[in-house]
Amino acid sequence: MKSFLIDRYAKGGALRLGESPMPALKDNDVMVEIHAAGVNPLDSKIRDGEFKLILPYRLPLVLGNDVAGVVVRVGANVRQFKSGDEVYARPGQDRIGTFAEYIAMDEADVAMKPNNLTMEEAASIPLVALTAWQALVERANVQKGQKVLIHAGSGGVGVIAIQLAKHLGAYVATTTSTANVALVKGLGAEVVVDYKKDDFEKVLQGYDVVLNSLGKDTQEKSLAVLKPGGKLISISGPPDPDFARKSGSGWLLQQVMRLLSYGIRRKSKRLGVDYSFLFMTANGGQLGKVTS
Ligand SMILES: NC(=O)c1ccc[n+]([C@@H]2O[C@H](COP(=O)([O-])OP(=O)(O)OC[C@H]3O[C@@H](n4cnc5c(N)ncnc54)[C@H](OP(=O)(O)O)[C@@H]3O)[C@@H](O)[C@H]2O)c1
Repeated sequence: MKSFLIDRYAKGGALRLGESPMPALKDNDVMVEIHAAGVNPLDSKIRDGEFKLILPYRLPLVLGNDVAGVVVRVGANVRQFKSGDEVYARPGQDRIGTFAEYIAMDEADVAMKPNNLTMEEAASIPLVALTAWQALVERANVQKGQKVLIHAGSGGVGVIAIQLAKHLGAYVATTTSTANVALVKGLGAEVVVDYKKDDFEKVLQGYDVVLNSLGKDTQEKSLAVLKPGGKLISISGPPDPDFARKSGSGWLLQQVMRLLSYGIRRKSKRLGVDYSFLFMTANGGQLGKVTS
């Protein structure tokens, strides 16, 4: 089948249009003919080699972490899907490869595509929506009336996270550039801080949750926004010991992650807030809930 692949990790390197073998169909898998694939910063980070320690892929590698398409075959144990179903998904992280004609995915990672979305619209959703869900629902357990700061509200994750936080009944603040102020207000954010003009840490206080997708500087300033007992959830690093353990990293890598996050964990502890790193995972059930 045709696919876009990388032969080696290279910062800024181009993808190669080439041929790769049809994916093997396991008993719990659905084979999906790909109609649309979403592009995420994760794809360029994988290509650049930033994830080679925690995601040791075999090369050549077909990139792509978001998909919408039509089921063409199902494995012997599949119960939820049949040929002809229109579906969308973020494949499991060890089975990525949506920049291709076909992909095989565990049915547990797949959801029915909502009828009111085109294939292209649906393919833009899974990775960012699952990230927002796992941060705000699973990790933070956001409750009605809580104050939530979503950084980078105009980004892929931010756009969904604002809407999800509003849906959960939260009071939402976000940061964005001047050009995107109207966009994030339209999504329901109560407070919009234009980072080109204002410092968010000077105008926001007493927040229960901060979702950070930006750099170290923003991360550290975010601590000042949280009230004691609040939660700083970062999807842009640094990875913490809990993530290191759960990701099955070896001892050495666990120690590296412990060291990388030592500073922010120490500062958080001093202020009585909780720091955690989140690396989203595939989950068809959650994806189904996001668009139900
Ligand atoms: N750990 C995980 O599971 C996970 C999952 C998904 C994404 N991520 C990571 O999260 C990051 C964001 O992903 P994404 O898909 O949302 O990226 P994206 O769609 O490229 O959005 C990034 C946004 O950041 C905004 N931005 C840049 N500088 C800013 C600042 N100083 N303050 C506020 N906003 C700023 C930009 O908006 P303006 O144009 O308004 O500046 C842009 O819309 C990436 O690094 C990605 O790799 C991690």
